[in-house]
Amino acid sequence: MNAHSRKQKGPARRSAVTLLWFVAALGASAFAQKTSPDAPKSVAACIGCHGAKGEGIATFPRLAGTGQAYLRAQLDAFGDGSRKNSIMQPIAQQLTAAQRTEVAQYFSQLPAPFLAADPVQPLPADGGAWLATRGRWSDDVPACVQCHGPGGRGVGAQFPPLAGLPAAYITEQLQAWKAGSRPPGPLALMTGIAQQLTETDITAVAAYYANLAKTPDAVPAKALPPKSRP
Ligand code: HEC
Ligand code: HEC
Repeated sequence: MNAHSRKQKGPARRSAVTLLWFVAALGASAFAQKTSPDAPKSVAACIGCHGAKGEGIATFPRLAGTGQAYLRAQLDAFGDGSRKNSIMQPIAQQLTAAQRTEVAQYFSQLPAPFLAADPVQPLPADGGAWLATRGRWSDDVPACVQCHGPGGRGVGAQFPPLAGLPAAYITEQLQAWKAGSRPPGPLALMTGIAQQLTETDITAVAAYYANLAKTPDAVPAKALPPKSRP
């Protein structure tokens, strides 16, 4: 190190450190404004795609109100590469086990972006609505609502919500189970179901759940009385 740089070192280093603190503080305050105050720091790496409230943005799926055990299992699956996605695999690999638990818990406790209801009397011609609420027993396809709850709200820690997931995302997941490229999950329930679905079924049911968010009955989760929440 020459005399010149030694002379510069003190003040230069100090102002660099000040700048870093400034940038970090700016980032932290933007993060704090967008998320709830108790959000773990690791959540900052998620909200750009999944939304500040985990509500999902465009093609990125919602995480809010999705069961903790389910979210944690997905992060593990992306982390070990058994669930494949070029965006999520490296992100999950960066998280420690403790961070995976903490982000899964955080998003599972955020309210669903909205709650929707299924049509009371769908017709067999309403492909997606019919499959979702009645299933097709001749092919051993149970109604989706049996596990995913009315209005695709999700049930407990293991059965994720479907309402409001992007249609392309739902389609890809069902295709992945059909092709055996997504881990089978609890009791391989979805592998069995997806194998019974035709391309027409998949398109219809994906559109049905994606569009539930846009039906007139869909209300923000907070507006419902607590007893009607999942
Ligand atoms: C650059 C965008 C991006 C960022 C940042 C991101 N994700 Fe994702 N995430 C995605 C995409 C795309 C998918 C859909 C993957 C697929 O199709 O299988 C996804 C899917 C997921 C899923 C599976 C959801 C489900 O319903 O099965 C979880 C869980 C998840 N992300 C958690 C996180 C967490 C936690 C973080 C922050 C640590 C994060 N993501 C950051 C893009 C992102
Ligand atoms: C017998 C119970 C059961 C039924 C019925 C069922 N599912 Fe599932 N579904 C599950 C389970 C369990 C998971 C979580 C799988 C995992 O952990 O990987 C799941 C996950 C999914 C996912 C992934 C969601 C996400 O966020 O990535 C989609 C999409 C899905 N189901 C669609 C459907 C559709 C469409 C139907 C009706 C045709 C249906 N399911 C019926 C049990 C069921």
